[in-house]
Amino acid sequence: MGRILAISAATILLCSGCSAQEEPKAADIKAEMLLHVQPAAETFWNAVQFISDENGSREIVPQTAAEWQEVLEGARALKKYGATLQEPEYAAGRGADWKDYAKGLVDVAGQAEAAAQSHDPDKVLEVGGTLYNVCSACHEVYMPNPVSVAPGIPTDESTGTQP
Ligand code: HEC
Repeated sequence: MGRILAISAATILLCSGCSAQEEPKAADIKAEMLLHVQPAAETFWNAVQFISDENGSREIVPQTAAEWQEVLEGARALKKYGATLQEPEYAAGRGADWKDYAKGLVDVAGQAEAAAQSHDPDKVLEVGGTLYNVCSACHEVYMPNPVSVAPGIPTDESTGTQP
């Protein structure tokens, strides 16, 4: 009996050692967003632009297969990050809606991929708007002070009351 107790105690000690090491380390979401998610999204958002200024109106669209390939890779990267955000190191401690937002990113990135593959500037523009809404939906719930992440698309914060 004494021996069994001694073994259990040793087992408990060993296990507490293991579990302390296996504890998921909360990932640095801000760094992941700034270094990876934002650049991939900007590749997509910047690919097609309608510019209207004192020199008139003009359209920026990808010109070459290589440029379209970059747009496609931006979309694929976003798909990957949508999957990454569902992993425990990012999802732990969040509400159930966290994974829905991350899945939303995977879904819209799939549409972005299709738009890039179709070489259709209008589709890229349209999906770009949806993409922005998906980013913002998660930010409104989980970002302490939501900031606009898309060039040229103002948030309530930047249009109004903030200094
Ligand atoms: C599943 C949730 C989620 C999704 C989807 C998401 N984000 Fe984020 N993002 C966050 C959270 C949470 C933060 C705040 C991190 C912090 O400050 O600790 C953040 C912060 C950021 C920041 C840093 C802002 C700053 O300067 O403080 C940028 C940039 C950003 N996200 C871009 C994007 C873009 C672009 C997309 C869409 C393509 C996106 N995010 C989609 C959760 C998400």
